[in-house]
Parts: sequence; structure tokens; C-alpha cells
Amino acid sequence: MAKEIFLTGDRPTGKLHIGHYIGSLKNRVKLQNEGKYDPYIMIADTQALTDNARDPEKIQNSLIQVALDYLAVGLDPKKSTIFVQSQIPALFELTAYYMDLVTVSRLERNPTVKTEIKQKGFNDSIPVGFLNYPVSQAADITAFKATLVPVGDDQEPMIEQAREIVRTFNRVYDCDVLVEPKGFFPPKGSGRLPGLDGNAKMSKSLGNCIYLSDDAKTVQKKVMSMYTDPNHIHVEDPGKVEGNTVFTYLDVFDPDKDKVAELKEEYQKGGLGDVKIKRYLNKVLENELEPIRERRAKYAQDTDAVYEMLVEGSKKANVKANQTLQEVRDAIGLNYFGHFDK
Ligand code: TRP
Repeated sequence: MAKEIFLTGDRPTGKLHIGHYIGSLKNRVKLQNEGKYDPYIMIADTQALTDNARDPEKIQNSLIQVALDYLAVGLDPKKSTIFVQSQIPALFELTAYYMDLVTVSRLERNPTVKTEIKQKGFNDSIPVGFLNYPVSQAADITAFKATLVPVGDDQEPMIEQAREIVRTFNRVYDCDVLVEPKGFFPPKGSGRLPGLDGNAKMSKSLGNCIYLSDDAKTVQKKVMSMYTDPNHIHVEDPGKVEGNTVFTYLDVFDPDKDKVAELKEEYQKGGLGDVKIKRYLNKVLENELEPIRERRAKYAQDTDAVYEMLVEGSKKANVKANQTLQEVRDAIGLNYFGHFDK
């Protein structure tokens, strides 16, 4: 029996940061290495264009950065098919068919898209492609008949939209061509890493990130600038650990939970300084980031090989997506020419 497929991806709008790592990358590497699934990992460049159409260079430059980040965290082209969305034409034809099964008002209700529209200040000038990206994302997922989609919590509405499209398609065209996917989310409470400034989200536009490609010195500087408890002024003052970014990060990154509990107690009592606790966090982070950084540097020496890897991955992805497209065309009844065409 063929293995079940998991599929996920990222928009190449810059380098990936440790929020991506905690929210999604780490999960996929684990799934990849468990060997139960056949992984497909997509660099979603056309989705990135839906709100960057006038800045294609940003996408072009980010493509290789994201590919390097993937390899750096341990995604392995021998085990995972890593490919580029724009190189898979079937995805766009599938999107076109699915668009006819989804209403505009349904798209307008998508909470993640709504938030993004506000953040990006689109007001009344929302690009059609942007509003439609949940539909194209359903094409990404269903083209590969993925049953599992490991993503961050904010992507839940996209999975729901994909599930709806699958059900509608199979019902309307009386078939079982499309497969309903399930989301795979990080464990509750650890899925979203706050920004260095304590903002709920780590994001490039807020300038509050640690990147997977940051060197050790940069990471240290960023850790030293982190938001803690603004009322913890003197070392001997009792400090707060809730909402204190340093402790949130320790909860996520430090495997030694007893040690974290001890440090929290000491901090709350008073007597544990911010500098000391930040130095400790820096050490914990380095344990995780150093091997990633080293692998990234190694792959960055031969970007030609990385592009080759994407070519190979995209070839393989095309075969799979074209198969599904053929089944979809047959299900709708677009095979008018049948044997005339052979
Ligand atoms: N929307 C995802 C993000 O912004 C990227 C993405 C595109 C994706 N297509 C996908 C994720 C298909 C999972 C499955 O991170």
C-alpha cells in the first residue's frame, strides 16, 4: 500500500524565523523522519504573489532562502518532495474548477484572510487572487491527495475550506476523486511564539524575529533586548513570568522543565536578574539553532545544487498533480474527445 501523503508549504516572502520553526517546521521534520507518510513540501511562490504582485523580485530572492531554511532544519530531499508552486500548472487549472464551487461571501468570511486584509491595509482594494487564495490552497492540498496538512493554527480556516471543497466536488460530480485532508497543529499553547517585543506574533513586518539564518552574535543581541517584566527593575524585585517573553521561550525551547520551574520560582520571589536569565535562554536557544545554522551554511555554499533539488522535486510533483487533474477533468466530464485525441 502506498503511504498516505502529507503536504504543507510556506510563502517565500523572506527568510524563515524561529516562529515558523516552532509553529510548523519542527513538526514536519518529525513527521518526515517517522517515515509513515510521504511528505510534499511546497514553496508557495504564487500564493506569495497574491499580495506581492508588484514586487516579484522579493519572491525570487526569497525562494532560495526558504529552500535553505528547509534543508537547514532537516527536511531531506531523499525523504520529502520539495517543490515550487508556480512550476506545477495543474494547480491553477484545479483552482479554476474549484472557484466555481465557492461563493464570494464564503471567502469574505475567512477569519485569517480578514485579519490579513486589515493588516495589509487593502481596504476596498483587495486583489481577487488574494481573496481567492484559500481556494488555490485547496488545489495545492487536493492535487496531491494529501490526508494530513501540518500547519500553524492560523491556517485552520484554509483546511476547513479545503474540506468543504472536497465534499462539494465529490457530491456535485458524484465521485470520490478528491480526498478530505486533516490539519495537524502544534500542541496547544506551544504553537505560537510571541515576538521579541512581547507582541503576540513573531513577524517580519513587526521586526521582532530571530531568523534561522541569524548568526550567534545577532541572536545574543536580540535575546538581550527581549521584553520581560517592565516592573522588574532591580534584581531583588519580585518579577512576573506570565507574559514575560523570556519565560515563554524557555517553556517552548528548554527540554529541562524542572530547571525552568526552578528559575520561574526564583524570578517570582526576587533575586534573579534579567541579564542572567537571558544568558541562560541564549544558551538554550543556541543548542537548537547552532546545528541548523551550520547545516544552512553548508548548503549555502552550493546553491546550484539546491536549485537542482527543486527542479527534481517539481518534476515529481507534476506527475502526481497531473494524475489528479486528469481524474478531476474526467469527473466533471471534460473528456469530450476521448479516443479521438489519442
Ligand atoms: N498559506 C500558507 C502560509 O501562509 C502557505 C501554503 C500555501 C500552504 N499552500 C499551502 C500551507 C498548502 C499548507 C498547504 O503559511
